Amino acid sequence: MCGIVGYIGARNSQEVLLDGLSKLEYRGYDSAGIAVFTNEGLQIRKAQGRLANLATRLEDEPLAGGVGIGHTRWATHGKPSDENSHPHTDATMKFSVVHNGIIENYMELKEELMAQGVPFISETDTEVISHLIAREYDGDIVKAVQRAITYIRGAFALGVLTEYEPDRLVAVRCASPLVIGIGEGENFIGSDIPAILQYTRRVYILNDNEMAVLTKEAVELMTIEGNSISREMIVVDWDAMTAEKGGYDHFMLKEIHEQPKAYRDTMRGRLQEGLSGVKLTELKVLTNERLREIRNVHIVACGTAYHAGLVGRTLIEQAIRIPVETDVASEYRYRNPIITPETLVIVVSQSGETADTLAALREAKRCGAAVLAITNVVGSSVAREADDTIVTWAGPEIAVASTKAYTSQLIAFMLLSLYWAEQTGRMGAAELRHQLAAMEALPEQVESILTQADELKRVAEEMAAHDNLFFIGRGVDYAVAMEGSLKLKEISYIHSEAYAAGELKHGTLALIEEGIPVIALVTQSSLVEKMISNIKEVKARGGVVYAVTDKAHAELVSKAVDGTFVLPTTLAHLSPALSVIPLQLISYYASLARGNDVDKPRNLAKSVTVE
Ligand code: F6R
Repeated sequence: MCGIVGYIGARNSQEVLLDGLSKLEYRGYDSAGIAVFTNEGLQIRKAQGRLANLATRLEDEPLAGGVGIGHTRWATHGKPSDENSHPHTDATMKFSVVHNGIIENYMELKEELMAQGVPFISETDTEVISHLIAREYDGDIVKAVQRAITYIRGAFALGVLTEYEPDRLVAVRCASPLVIGIGEGENFIGSDIPAILQYTRRVYILNDNEMAVLTKEAVELMTIEGNSISREMIVVDWDAMTAEKGGYDHFMLKEIHEQPKAYRDTMRGRLQEGLSGVKLTELKVLTNERLREIRNVHIVACGTAYHAGLVGRTLIEQAIRIPVETDVASEYRYRNPIITPETLVIVVSQSGETADTLAALREAKRCGAAVLAITNVVGSSVAREADDTIVTWAGPEIAVASTKAYTSQLIAFMLLSLYWAEQTGRMGAAELRHQLAAMEALPEQVESILTQADELKRVAEEMAAHDNLFFIGRGVDYAVAMEGSLKLKEISYIHSEAYAAGELKHGTLALIEEGIPVIALVTQSSLVEKMISNIKEVKARGGVVYAVTDKAHAELVSKAVDGTFVLPTTLAHLSPALSVIPLQLISYYASLARGNDVDKPRNLAKSVTVE
């Protein structure tokens, strides 16, 4: 967690650092800080809370200089406070460090350093790094960093400066993401590409256990042991505006509206001409032969990506007829799953950096399974470590609450299941064409849903007055209900639960009382009658039911409920790509109605790189 940036060049580094941190605030916003070489040496400014607090502080006490590092924090060790904010320094204040990750053995290192007389001022794990570097320094900052990190265990990306060598910035990556940006007479580091995109499109992506030494004129890449390495430079083709709000009030709203484009981009180039099949040329290890050998599938992910995996399970099981399990990544490793070389493990991650998902991926590889990643970030850890990767072309997702990444993951699962069915002869040409035509229609159908945002705003404003709410559904509608409930909780802070509608009577019905809002998803023809019975059970106890259904079922369903949102009709198993859209909008407007910070909900961060 946390975001780091660094700059070395002729510009005013304070501005570059603040700008980079503003792009990284999704990674944490408990506090922020920068360190800059000024005429008076290495100077640090920090402020608790949002980046805006640091910017205000810097207006009163600016730092002028062309070399600096910055950090935005999501607290892990030690509460959000000025002392615990980065950059951290050593006792002499000659060294400065920003860190993203966790140092697992920091307590023993801290005790050892304290026994050597080193004073600590923060509760963080990071502070040990600055003291270790200072202790190891004998005139060469690169060697000091290399020696210092031999003592530490854990996950870290670091930016390091020392007043003794003001023309060098050292960056290290060990299990936390870090990219290096290449400019003309200036160079950059950042936790991700958008952090530096305003200044350069040319980047190196560091691998684990690699480091970079930056001067104004050059970047030297090496392993943490000091062996020089060469790396192909990537030229990024997104523009900086893509990562900005583009006229919307919030990134989340912008990203909700970008979904038709994200669907089209994720399908682009992957549908055969005349809808005769699916092309997934990126699958190199998962050849037809290997696909035929697969006996079971584990889908592993966290949060919203896990919910996409629940839909993925149905899509693959229906198309391929082999058993599929979907697991929360933080549980997967610890339940000692049965993974064999005939298991396909699919890891799903927007960021491609989620620590739990990455750990599950590694465990799957260790057990000899084929690993396929579905991720939104090219070059992310998950993408690099998986055998094969299907990239979701949703573009940068900035709002903490995931929307377009989730629906693009659904599209990726649809493509994969159809590709697999086609390649292994499980689906005939006519059925394939029928399914692909339905998929191709989805972006336009989403556009039509988005035009009805005002109706959903009204519903959301009514719901925002309540403290408890339920979502119910059956089959894939239940999976979507879980995503709707998570979205509402995370940004509106309204307590909500999602239930398999048939399960209510086994306990939860006791919570339904007069006036409780219940959102019912009813899109599955084979389950409509059963859903209506469950809705009646809720209404009989005083629940107020708002249904999200489709044209084919609207007449029947509307008679049983208090309000209805009608979706265009699609194939039953594709419906999540439509039915989740109104739920995203309800969450967005409920959060607005409650006066919350929609894009940066409390206690959360976008990229969760700690376990
Ligand atoms: C919720 C949300 C999170 C993420 C989860 C996994 O809106 O965004 O639940 O889905 O933290 O993140 P990734 O997909 O980056 O692995």
